[in-house]
Amino acid sequence: MPSAPRSLDLIPLLLCPVCGEQLEAAGRFPAQGLRCTAGHQYDGARQGYVNMLTGRGTRFIPDTAEMVAARDAFLGAGHYASLARQLAATAGTLLTGTPAPVLLDAGAGTGYYLEAVLRNFSDGRALALDLSKCALRRAARVLPDALCVVWDLWKPLPLAAGSTDLILNVFAPRNPGEFARVLKPGGHLVVATAAPGHLDELREVVPLLAVDTDKSFRLGETLGDGFEEVESVALQVPLQLDDEDIVRLVMMGPNAHHIEAGDVQAAAAAAAGAGGGRLPVTARFTVTAYRRRGHS
Ligand SMILES: C[S@@+](CC[C@H](N)C(=O)[O-])C[C@H]1O[C@@H](n2cnc3c(N)ncnc32)[C@H](O)[C@@H]1O
Ligand SMILES: [Zn+2]
Repeated sequence: MPSAPRSLDLIPLLLCPVCGEQLEAAGRFPAQGLRCTAGHQYDGARQGYVNMLTGRGTRFIPDTAEMVAARDAFLGAGHYASLARQLAATAGTLLTGTPAPVLLDAGAGTGYYLEAVLRNFSDGRALALDLSKCALRRAARVLPDALCVVWDLWKPLPLAAGSTDLILNVFAPRNPGEFARVLKPGGHLVVATAAPGHLDELREVVPLLAVDTDKSFRLGETLGDGFEEVESVALQVPLQLDDEDIVRLVMMGPNAHHIEAGDVQAAAAAAAGAGGGRLPVTARFTVTAYRRRGHS
């Protein structure tokens, strides 16, 4: 008989988004979903996630299946592996000495970074939240022990106060008030953002949307008084991209809503062709760790 998924252990950390009561598995988990003591039900999917967004849902557009497939292929080729290593190192240091840490990836996408971070912990327990069912389907595949929940980060999180040791937030929306509430006092938030100059060479080839860099929105200020910065690391990653890589990189993010795939394809083939098949592009990231103020 197969053993029960470890994600079951995390259900007591969840709260019903309608009434705030505790949740329990409604049968085989996650396929048969969750229900609260007052009878509110949340559908599970046999692909391994639970959908807690009910009613009118959200006004935000989730990443499409095409965007998720492009992201999966681009990340799977290892282009951003050094960012994954940095996130794993930062989280590993911050959680040293924390037994069975609870990690929440807020905007986990396909689970690529959470999987890298979890490799540091034999006893880590992980929650992945994202608006995109397509993304969570892949996250559930690479993280079979994680609890994957479809949720909108702009709404109150369906998690108990002080339930989480570390929140990972990689190129995804941030809800500082809710992040502070669900973190344990002294818990950490690790944020990856694009840095000024990110993918500048690519901008000369394809008209990309401006990215919000950490400088342009002064991340620390937007997080408010609940957090203090403990560490910030700048990463500069030289990439050599062929035309397929370029198309995936452009189409895996919000640019996909604004550019025709055929136009990107043509521009990418011309740019990579001119460079002997590869375009040199520099990715620039900032990984910043914050500590939730308060005593542990
Ligand atoms: C640029 S992707 C980053 C995904 C992942 N962290 C990574 O780096 O591979 C942004 C992610 O945020 C998710 N997202 C966007 N708005 C959201 C919201 N309001 N609530 C939850 N997730 C959201 C998208 O579905 C997408 O997976
Ligand atoms: Zn309820």
